[in-house]
Amino acid sequence: MAIKDLIENENNCQNTKVNELYLSSHLTYGVLCSIFEFVFKHFKVAFFVFIFFLFIYILYKSYWSPVFYAKELSEVGFNHIPKGKDRCLNIIRAQKGRRFGSKLPPPYPNGWFALVESRDLVVGGVVAIDALGLNLCVYRGEDETARVVDAYCPHLGANLAIGGNVCGNCIECPFHQWKFGEDGQCVSIPHTETVPKGISIKTYPSMEIDGTVWVWYDAEGRPPLWTVEDSDETKNWGYRGRNEFLVNAHIQEIPENGADVAHLNAVHNVSLLTDVGYKYPFLNNIIGCHNWSAEWSKGEMDHLAQIKIAHQYIIMKFDVFPINVTVHQIGPAHVRLRFHSPLGPMTIIQSVTPIAPLVQKVVHRVYTPRYNAILGAALVLMEAYQFARDVAIWNNKRYVSSPVYVKNDKTIRTFRSWFSQFYSEQSVSLKDALQNPLDW
Ligand code: FES
Ligand SMILES: [Fe+2]
Repeated sequence: MAIKDLIENENNCQNTKVNELYLSSHLTYGVLCSIFEFVFKHFKVAFFVFIFFLFIYILYKSYWSPVFYAKELSEVGFNHIPKGKDRCLNIIRAQKGRRFGSKLPPPYPNGWFALVESRDLVVGGVVAIDALGLNLCVYRGEDETARVVDAYCPHLGANLAIGGNVCGNCIECPFHQWKFGEDGQCVSIPHTETVPKGISIKTYPSMEIDGTVWVWYDAEGRPPLWTVEDSDETKNWGYRGRNEFLVNAHIQEIPENGADVAHLNAVHNVSLLTDVGYKYPFLNNIIGCHNWSAEWSKGEMDHLAQIKIAHQYIIMKFDVFPINVTVHQIGPAHVRLRFHSPLGPMTIIQSVTPIAPLVQKVVHRVYTPRYNAILGAALVLMEAYQFARDVAIWNNKRYVSSPVYVKNDKTIRTFRSWFSQFYSEQSVSLKDALQNPLDW
């Protein structure tokens, strides 16, 4: 056969394939339309009832039942581990085999850290929290103030947070019912008239803002170096829900993401609605994709920094959903993200709490005005889908202490020098922190 014939034959084959593809997609479309027509014709009432209840459900989730979305340590970033009987073991193997890098900064910077959401700590409630290499007991007295104390009773070492009771503003040990007052001093011992002097538990400075109880952690034992006013949004707007992730990384990696401007269009470009754009980039034109520009800068006070982000959602070259975000970083572990969208404002409160030297609990809590509740509820999920893309990288990366910086990375360098203010002479090293049995 001549070459010309071969080429013609090849072209015919290709044309046939294209025709087949066209026919099959046409057929699929036709079948879908027929199904829809059939359902609409014969189940019209059921269809409208379904839409009605879906609408009611969305309203219910938006206004009365805040959305909750959570991902554990092994759930994000392990798609490369094949399915099968031993998948869990293989994930653990991947986690254990990971190299975290060298010269990691101390794992617990100085600052305010979120311990428990206010709504989860009722009057008389007690919550046990293990974080920052400490075992803490958080309780709310009858004066409605949340307090944070060391969990261990000085008598025989029972954990006050496990079975302890709140009496007035005191915490009572579950083992022999010794009571400790607001200042940590022992105020009562059953069957003992005079309490010996000098028996006390350690108390920690705490504050309750942004719908959360925070503890002040300082390696030098200093009182809080800054305080934070409650935000207007958390006081006046409605709470729409939260998403939370456990992340296997050093705490510094999380806020560094905001200064890493270049990653935005690499990691967060594909539509949050579906990951299909990664595999078939041409679909991004139809489904839409995100376009970001951002600027990180130090704030007016030492412990503050801010990021200005401009976001576009592009479909066929049109920006269909522009959003501007102003991000305020307050210390090492507290962020307020204020969204200005065509459908109204929204605010996310982010907190990062090291529950082990290299395990962070990251929580995002969403607030919006009442009229904007549906968008707020959706934001809980939309933000979670975008954040999961960062988590997949954090859960597998290693820390690089001296990166090769290019021009776009200059804010990463500035960020690292800014963040170093939260470490101090007595900051526990990673090596020492890893000796702590809290690490697992
Ligand atoms: S251990 Fe707490 S009262 Fe005895
Ligand atoms: Fe990111």
